Amino acid sequence: MFSIFKKKLPATPIDFSAVKTDMHSHLLPGIDDGAETINDSLQLINGLQQLGFQQFITTPHTMWDMYKNTPATISTAHEILKSHLKEVPVRAASEYFLDDHFDEMLQQEQSLLTITGKMVLVEFSFVSPPLNLKEKIFNLQIKGYTPILAHPERYQFFATQKKIYHELKDMGCLFQLNLLSLSGYYGKISADLALWMIEQKMINLVGTDLHHQRHLDALRYSTAIMRPLHVLLDSGLLQNPALSA
Ligand SMILES: [Fe+2]
Repeated sequence: MFSIFKKKLPATPIDFSAVKTDMHSHLLPGIDDGAETINDSLQLINGLQQLGFQQFITTPHTMWDMYKNTPATISTAHEILKSHLKEVPVRAASEYFLDDHFDEMLQQEQSLLTITGKMVLVEFSFVSPPLNLKEKIFNLQIKGYTPILAHPERYQFFATQKKIYHELKDMGCLFQLNLLSLSGYYGKISADLALWMIEQKMINLVGTDLHHQRHLDALRYSTAIMRPLHVLLDSGLLQNPALSA
């Protein structure tokens, strides 16, 4: 009954409540390199809620060499998670790696799991880009999808050829920034690229890309994220708050 007099805990330095929806994460148990068990999933979601996120569109990898996920495997893991969660909106989509299997899925007109509407989250290797990157993006578009490039700032080989980012944007590709990039978590090149893309008004979405507790701990103390994030929020370009899970 005296709870209102309880000493307030110090305010968390990080508050993502204005972003509202985390649309890139690996929170489903046991199907990729993210949460391993249902307990991991619940702990990570709880941690993200403490940072202010209210809903989640989680995006397990579909990467045929490593994680042979399909709508069925994703749905099974999603059902397990939902059975343990009462009131947290969590929807499941996928982060598609632009490999040969992805090309086949498109050729066979298989339906893709989307972030919202026809928006599909895609990624490729951090070592080198696909030779036909623009063709792959175009192939997705002619099937009626809008590509969202996951963490464009993490493709450090593009730091010396930034023209490619303008070309992808001109094609209609959306960009999703990893929040941790702004703290230097992935190195200075990615941090600089992230700030440059914000300045260029290229970023449409942000996500945590959360895989494990270490990411959560890093987010919790990365106060450097907040200033550029507010620039993004103030720009009105960020689509996260309008997403629904
Ligand atoms: Fe990811």
